[in-house]
Amino acid sequence: MNNEAFAQAILTWFDHSGRKHLPWQQQKTAYRVWVSEIMLQQTQVTTVIPYFERFMQRFPTVNDLASASQDEVLQLWAGLGYYARGRNLHKCARKIVAEYCGEFPDDTTMLSQLPGIGQSTAGAIVSIAYNKRAAILDGNVKRVLARFHGIADWPGKTVVAKKLWGYAESYTPYQRCADYTQAMMDLGATLCTRSQPACNICPLQKDCIARQTDNPQNFPGKKPKKRLPIKNTQMLMIINTDDNSVWLQKRPPQGIWGGLWSFPELEQDDDSANYIQQHFGRVVHYENWTPFRHTFSHYHLNIQPVYALIEKTGNRISESSKKQWFDQQQAGTLGLSAPVKRLLAKLLA
Ligand code: ADE
Ligand code: SF4
Repeated sequence: MNNEAFAQAILTWFDHSGRKHLPWQQQKTAYRVWVSEIMLQQTQVTTVIPYFERFMQRFPTVNDLASASQDEVLQLWAGLGYYARGRNLHKCARKIVAEYCGEFPDDTTMLSQLPGIGQSTAGAIVSIAYNKRAAILDGNVKRVLARFHGIADWPGKTVVAKKLWGYAESYTPYQRCADYTQAMMDLGATLCTRSQPACNICPLQKDCIARQTDNPQNFPGKKPKKRLPIKNTQMLMIINTDDNSVWLQKRPPQGIWGGLWSFPELEQDDDSANYIQQHFGRVVHYENWTPFRHTFSHYHLNIQPVYALIEKTGNRISESSKKQWFDQQQAGTLGLSAPVKRLLAKLLA
């Protein structure tokens, strides 16, 4: 498939299956296209639509946006997340008014120097709003091109990104630039999806390399996982044989699982049977359950659950509102971390 055939296949597909009724595709102006592209950078179409409509009602032109206060802009942005986008949007509007007489440039180099506009967003504005030739390479398009070319590496690598930009540039047609850009976005969003590409109805299926592998969803490669450090802990599930209650304590507000109820924990090598004996009473049954792992963003936590039935001897535990015996059913309704929730469910099973 040569470059022309690629673009032609994409455009033919767009004519029957592309999206043509999104709000920012109506009354197309650079301003509307720009706002939509910024909103769509990290947010789904269905979420964006009502925000876009409200935004356009309040700020119909870039001048309206530029003369608003940042507070008001961020108020309308609230809920879309990533507030840097909202702040940059406002900054960019002021620049467009101050430096470009309120007209968005139709040039990707100039656009990509404005706050919040990267190379791909600049390409989207030039092609969609001005129907001029400019390539885009957002996440969806990266996926389509990486699959089509069977790129198994991760697009976050500079060399891979360069290669993909090269493909994106060469496939971009000279005619119907707006439709082509929208088509590539739509193909990635609706058909060549992350986990279930619909290859059998794809206009690129004939020459797609990923398609020939049975597992097209494996392309492109994922970001290499950082090796996380491993920590170990014992979680003590201490059951009072008097009433079958379970001992829980509230974690300090700071740190992992802040403010959640947990089992007491010991270091991996501590003698837990002895500890329980010392602090809770006579251990009448003791069992190590199968260990499992909980992964945080910064480390793995290997958890060794310890199950102990005790007979309370004396009243050595000072019960406070932060450390106490709970009915096992009632414990399930407290604020619990995922591993504690899982272990309590096993206790009740
Ligand atoms: N995501 C980013 N830009 C888009 C657009 N113009 N239409 C639909 N989804 C998008
Ligand atoms: Fe994606 Fe399948 Fe089309 Fe290849 S054939 S581009 S994997 S949908």
